[in-house]
Amino acid sequence: MDQWFHHGAGRLDKEGSLPNALSAGMEKEITMKKMKRLHIVWVSLATGVILLFSAGISTGQTEDVTFSRDIAPILQQRCQDCHRPGQMGPMSLVTYEEVRPWAPLIKTKVVTRTMPPWHLDKTVGIQEFENDVSLTNAEIDKIVRWVDAGAPRGNLEDMPAAMDWPQDELWRMAERYGREPDLIIKSTPWTVSAQGQDQWWTPIIDTGLTEDRWVTGMEVRPNMKGRRVTHHAVIYLQQREEPGDFEPVVDVPGRGSYLTEFAVGKIGDVFRENTGKLMKVGSRIAFDNHYHSVGEEITSQTELGIWFHPKGYVPKYRVYSNALGVQQAMTTLDIPPGKVTTHHAYIPLRAQARIENYQPHMHIRGKAMSMEAILPNGQVQMLNHVANFDFNWHVNYVYTDDSAPVLPAGTILHITAWHDNSIDNRANPDPTQWVGWGQRSFDEMYHAHVNMTYLNDEDYEQIIADRRALQR
Ligand code: HEC
Repeated sequence: MDQWFHHGAGRLDKEGSLPNALSAGMEKEITMKKMKRLHIVWVSLATGVILLFSAGISTGQTEDVTFSRDIAPILQQRCQDCHRPGQMGPMSLVTYEEVRPWAPLIKTKVVTRTMPPWHLDKTVGIQEFENDVSLTNAEIDKIVRWVDAGAPRGNLEDMPAAMDWPQDELWRMAERYGREPDLIIKSTPWTVSAQGQDQWWTPIIDTGLTEDRWVTGMEVRPNMKGRRVTHHAVIYLQQREEPGDFEPVVDVPGRGSYLTEFAVGKIGDVFRENTGKLMKVGSRIAFDNHYHSVGEEITSQTELGIWFHPKGYVPKYRVYSNALGVQQAMTTLDIPPGKVTTHHAYIPLRAQARIENYQPHMHIRGKAMSMEAILPNGQVQMLNHVANFDFNWHVNYVYTDDSAPVLPAGTILHITAWHDNSIDNRANPDPTQWVGWGQRSFDEMYHAHVNMTYLNDEDYEQIIADRRALQR
């Protein structure tokens, strides 16, 4: 089937919208490089802490957890990315004075694992991710002990040096690729009024490509001022697909196939070695920018930065985006007033594939979503379960090279979505409403954004063999 995903420019519609007005600069997914860097810092800090600790014991000091020595390093690595001046977090968590009043709430948020945002059930499914920002049990335990002890400051000399944060104007992925984006595509500007209802601006922009190119990574960022009003920006790709292609998946009819996204907790996508996204001659980018007013007139523009594989290089595999379950959700989603509902979608794999990531998408009444694999031999594997879905956060759980599920042809992916339309859901705007599928945030949706790489026999067998060897 030959498809051309074209739609009139400037149509006001939306996808995956959220009504909640989060403040400026919603982004900050820690890139892998930075994670590694932080990890090294953390390991050395941890070693330091252990040394200090034993020194403390031997000189007869108390073992109490203090802000300066124990808590500040955790906040630096796990919180300040968002909780520092000018970032999206509602308050800065840098100095003791700033942190102290929040201590009780910090305890609650870390114990329930709502902060840092990582809403995955840690007791089932895959637990190795490239972008895991969650706290370890030991870190949570330290915070709890500290708060319970009255949040003591400790010795000033124990304070770690302040973090050296990158400038916000930077493309965050530039460090990873060692260069600025190869192509930047900007949405046309939209002026958000000082007051008013949420707005959607959905321009369609030509990529201007004169030859097919392969994408290795993408980052989405609103301009600096625009970060205050941009709640969410979904990016779709519109291009002609050939018959016999695995796709073409039109995730949202009229918009194209889901490409990437800017939302709290997500700034883009990085593709694994030997893989990439194909962007064809004549392709277009469809922006879905969701804006909210902040009491000041602000003109916003969203930029998509693209890093290509070198010219002429064709990666071994094309990565395909899927919105698993969207077709079923559009026709069957039915949520009576006051009820908690469960909906199921079953998606057969067309060929053996590697599942690259898992990003559940629902609206305000979304409660939980799981993704299971029903194997051709009848075995069922829970891949992941997002138990505490929070519509404020679009966390994309990116599997590592070794953890990404590799599944045989004939596998059926099973998506289960729970919605809570009762009064127990504190975010529920109206438990007396019947809710069905729709674009507005007061309507509902469910699907999982999942990138898939269909593997040839040789690579499939090889990966399976390598993993068996790892397990031994
Ligand atoms: C990815 C960005 C990000 C990271 C990382 C992050 N936060 Fe947050 N935090 C936010 C945002 C945005 C909000 C407000 C929206 C919400 O509550 O979901 C918030 C809310 C909070 C609140 C509630 C504030 C209120 O008034 O209700 C607390 C407490 C908090 N964060 C603590 C932390 C701690 C402690 C860490 C690290 C262990 C952390 N956060 C990591 C972005 C982040």
